[in-house]
Amino acid sequence: MPDEAFPRAVAYLQCIEPTCRATYDAGERIYACEQCGGLLDVQYEWRQARLTDLLATFDARRASFHPHDVSGVWRFRELFPFATSPSQVVTLGEGNTPLWDAPRSARYAGLKRLAVKHQGMNPTGSFKDNGMTTGVAQAQRLGARAVACASTGNTSASLAAYAARAGMRGIVFIPGGRIAYGKLAQSLDYGAATLQIEGNFDDAMRLARELARTTPLYLLNSVNPFRLEGQKAIAFELLQQRRWRVPDRIVVPGGNLGNVSALGKGFKELHDLGLIARMPRLTVVQAEGAAPLAQWRAGGREGNLIPVKQPKTLATAIQIGHPVSWLKAARALDWTDGACATVSEQDIADAKAVIGRDGIGCEPASAATVAGLRRLVAEGVVHPEEDTVAILTGNALKDPDFTVQYHTGQLFTDAERETRVTRAEGRLASTFANAPRRVPADADALRQAILDLIAELPSLTE
Ligand code: F0G
Repeated sequence: MPDEAFPRAVAYLQCIEPTCRATYDAGERIYACEQCGGLLDVQYEWRQARLTDLLATFDARRASFHPHDVSGVWRFRELFPFATSPSQVVTLGEGNTPLWDAPRSARYAGLKRLAVKHQGMNPTGSFKDNGMTTGVAQAQRLGARAVACASTGNTSASLAAYAARAGMRGIVFIPGGRIAYGKLAQSLDYGAATLQIEGNFDDAMRLARELARTTPLYLLNSVNPFRLEGQKAIAFELLQQRRWRVPDRIVVPGGNLGNVSALGKGFKELHDLGLIARMPRLTVVQAEGAAPLAQWRAGGREGNLIPVKQPKTLATAIQIGHPVSWLKAARALDWTDGACATVSEQDIADAKAVIGRDGIGCEPASAATVAGLRRLVAEGVVHPEEDTVAILTGNALKDPDFTVQYHTGQLFTDAERETRVTRAEGRLASTFANAPRRVPADADALRQAILDLIAELPSLTE
């Protein structure tokens, strides 16, 4: 693709604080407002004329084999025109994730219909790839040679892969315990320097931010607004798959709160540009033990969010007590008349098994969406007929331990394991257990068992 074919607009950074709104050049390596410390947005001086027929252009690109068109992020490049050259783009064909009907999950949640957009089908198994490709493009633009993030595991896996592809040094800060093994395995395999901090995610995040100020590391957490530009494409692709029909509601799990912020910005920009007529209600679901945004909203939205000091959930991806992007998330919920809910550990575990019965695997954090919908329908906040999409954020294979422990009645909210469980408290009920069965290696003995299993079939298809 020739350089001049790449979309360009004046891009700049702007503080989100209404009383500040300071602006900075998009080529500056900053992560917060230098006047007031506020979060930054990437903003554009859109050239409206160029935006006509944009949706048709995006649709036409689905027939192209060019890597920038094949990418489920760069296909929508006119909507984040900050890269100054196509050579900055490092793509693994991210996005392109399926939108599936999930009838059993719908019934469980009390909805007439539910679709899931499975971001876990990304190249590294999570939605982080959508943002990492744009974050790395900005890193290339700035000439960064080393990129870093703090992570509960998925951002680090994604950063490790894209840094490897870009020929950059990847350095990841992960919490000492409680990172899902699949995620740790990825960052090791993709060659990132993997620093296990003796602390939790919030400690790792604080340190990573500090080190990005005092070393040449370029920070690729979602506090970096260029990451969020790519995650807007989750909204764009979802709409494209629905022939640009806007759903009533979109539900996401909330951790560091970057994703809901990106979706909010994406939909707001589409709306402001006149490309969609209305916005979906964004809905965030947090685990009860790590729910600072839900608590802030329940407390009347006054003052600042109060961090949760010891966040705790088996959905380790969202075990975050001090979410960096909470103000952007609050803004996204305001823009879209959204909602926020909490769910228990039991709710998450059961919802995950129900999603599994739809033939769709996901990691625990993702299942918070269906659990949250079930609660919100029961409370009358969500109407059963709402046209709803749940974003499943991570692949089932990220955290297989959780799944096996659930199905074998061994899932504990508090447990220490070495090669076997050494201490265990707070056993969760395995409501929808499907444990492996021990059988003799003998065809005669198995025959009756198989006939019994086949006789059970009608109840399974209910
Ligand atoms: N779901 C999964 C699977 C995640 O990995 C994360 C965040 C979230 C949901 C929450 O998204 O932070 O944008 O609100 N994982 C980050 C990480 C924190 O380090 O991988 P969020």
